[in-house]
Amino acid sequence: MQLLKDRILKDGQVIGDQVLKVDSFINHQMDAQLMYEMGREFKRRFHSEKITKILTIEASGIAIACLAALHFQVPVIYAKKHQSVNLDKDTYQSSVYSFTKNTSYDVRVARKFLCKEDRVLIIDDFLANGNAATGLVDIVNQAGAEVVGVGIAIEKGFQPGRKVLEDKDIKVESLAIVESMNESKIKFK
Ligand code: G4P
Repeated sequence: MQLLKDRILKDGQVIGDQVLKVDSFINHQMDAQLMYEMGREFKRRFHSEKITKILTIEASGIAIACLAALHFQVPVIYAKKHQSVNLDKDTYQSSVYSFTKNTSYDVRVARKFLCKEDRVLIIDDFLANGNAATGLVDIVNQAGAEVVGVGIAIEKGFQPGRKVLEDKDIKVESLAIVESMNESKIKFK
């Protein structure tokens, strides 16, 4: 998606050769108009699929998923990373390993929000190693629902996330795929 690639080139900041900082339009300050256009592009790429729910994970996936949901006209569920009184006891749960934090955490979705008739599009901001998306796939499978695909804003193509998902026969659509990057250059696929 050219609009997103242009914005990454304009405002993205590469830290070392592994981390792309996009905190001025996705991860901290957010450009809702850009996210709305990203949602339109997800809809274009998945238009032939009947999708009944969008599933994401807190925190940064939520805004992108909500703006996509305006185009799909379906509810958005976000997996919670923390237990709270606001969360039902009856949940689907999966453990996600975070490479960036070198620790595992549980993600949970209340059972009442997913059923076996659901056809689910998973959306997230980044695809790196694929662990967050794999945890969400696991939750959809526990519900007996179907994963229609995974929609990603920015994929780091030099990390294994896409392969991990495609090995499970899951369709992956990324709006910008970074092939390589360093502090002076970002190259897209
Ligand atoms: P994975 O889910 O693909 O396996 O990713 P990984 O464990 O490596 O990343 C963990 C967190 O870091 C995720 O956010 C992921 O979105 C984010 N992340 C990974 N690579 C980058 C990057 O190059 N740039 C930015 N900005 N983020 C990256 P999270 O911990 O779940 O945090 P959040 O959603 O609350 O922001």
